[in-house]
Amino acid sequence: MTQDDMKKAVALAALEFVPKGGVIGVGTGSTANHFIDALATIKGRVDGAVASSVATAERLKKHGIQVLDLNEAGTLTVYIDGADEATVHKALIKGGGGALTREKIVAAASRSFVCIADESKLVDVLGRFPLPIEVIPMARSFVAREIVALGGEPVLRQGFQTDNGNVILDVHGLKILDPVALEERLNHITGVVTNGLFARRGADILLLGTKNGVRRIP
Ligand code: A5P
Repeated sequence: MTQDDMKKAVALAALEFVPKGGVIGVGTGSTANHFIDALATIKGRVDGAVASSVATAERLKKHGIQVLDLNEAGTLTVYIDGADEATVHKALIKGGGGALTREKIVAAASRSFVCIADESKLVDVLGRFPLPIEVIPMARSFVAREIVALGGEPVLRQGFQTDNGNVILDVHGLKILDPVALEERLNHITGVVTNGLFARRGADILLLGTKNGVRRIP
């Protein structure tokens, strides 16, 4: 079974969490893309979806799923999205695809967050995957210096602009023992829009695609 097969299996398993009626939030990335393709097979079940990126909105529309603005949708029943790293406590690193800010907004506006990932994403300690931080362009150097002072090694994601017109610093060398504290600390650096730690509001349910089937961490 390949990693992509595990992503597909876990995306399919997430259909169980799609309620009848209402609007759901949909994430970004290859696992979320598999979920969108699976959702298309039951698209009559939902009234529409809020997308966490332009790419996701386009894929949803291509499948004939109505895309709504979050301001019109109100509270979402469930948010379904992937992750770059996850712990058993359901703290996550996200933003490998650069959509972290909209992902965090949609997750915050959802009653429940179901994270879908293949088993390679499960770690004991977050931080092997470089932590993405979305930054207002004029603050890039200042924010980078502040991160170095915290012990991280920020690297500008070259040639990349977020859907919000900002840049991403990928921070290497962090061993994140207290994700909630670091998430809050990074949020207080002026010029930071969002950081890719989803710990204060982590996932509610983690579904992991494994070689032996889908494992659920409630
Ligand atoms: C997108 O910005 C990310 O947060 C994704 O959720 C994350 O990168 C997972 O992507 P894959 O499903 O492609 O591994």
